[in-house]
Amino acid sequence: MLTNASLNFKDYIRVIEDFPTPGISFKDITTLLKDGQAYRAAIQELRSMVEKYQIDLIAGPEARGFVIGAPLALELGVGFVPVRKSGKLPGETISASYSLEYGSDQLAMHKDAIVPGQRVLIADDLLATGGTIATVVELVQKLGGVIVGAAFLIELEELQGRKKFEGIEVHSLVTY
Ligand code: PRP
Repeated sequence: MLTNASLNFKDYIRVIEDFPTPGISFKDITTLLKDGQAYRAAIQELRSMVEKYQIDLIAGPEARGFVIGAPLALELGVGFVPVRKSGKLPGETISASYSLEYGSDQLAMHKDAIVPGQRVLIADDLLATGGTIATVVELVQKLGGVIVGAAFLIELEELQGRKKFEGIEVHSLVTY
């Protein structure tokens, strides 16, 4: 059995050029997710990066943030809050608009998802321009949550997304 240290996670991430639009070099994590050992090792590695924080909840944005945030929450024994595209959550929500590496959208959270003062780690598969996570930060803070940090499987360094939320510690497993 391979140990986490011997896994090069980049080997499990497939890069597809010109998807979804010309010029975008898409980092496809489905090839990592379908490998049980690599998926588990990636989540365990992320856990080791963030377990120093006192965390009450993990918040992750739809859809790929769920496949990182929810298992990470299970590993840490904390709750998971889904941040969804607008119109999907059934209860009372707050929402905010954001722009993507390609396009724009709106994210929403249930108003009662966070008790003011709860300590929240944000998790997603990818940090690109940072627009998505800046919006999650905005929503969590509006609900009175305290952001303790942000964890990503992948960070696209040249897009400098982490500059959009300076003051928040960012952890990423793989950088391009
Ligand atoms: C992707 C990715 C991140 C976000 C990163 O999600 O999963 O959430 O873009 O980009 P940014 O840092 O430039 O905001 P996408 O909105 O494509 O949704 P999906 O997870 O539902 O595919």
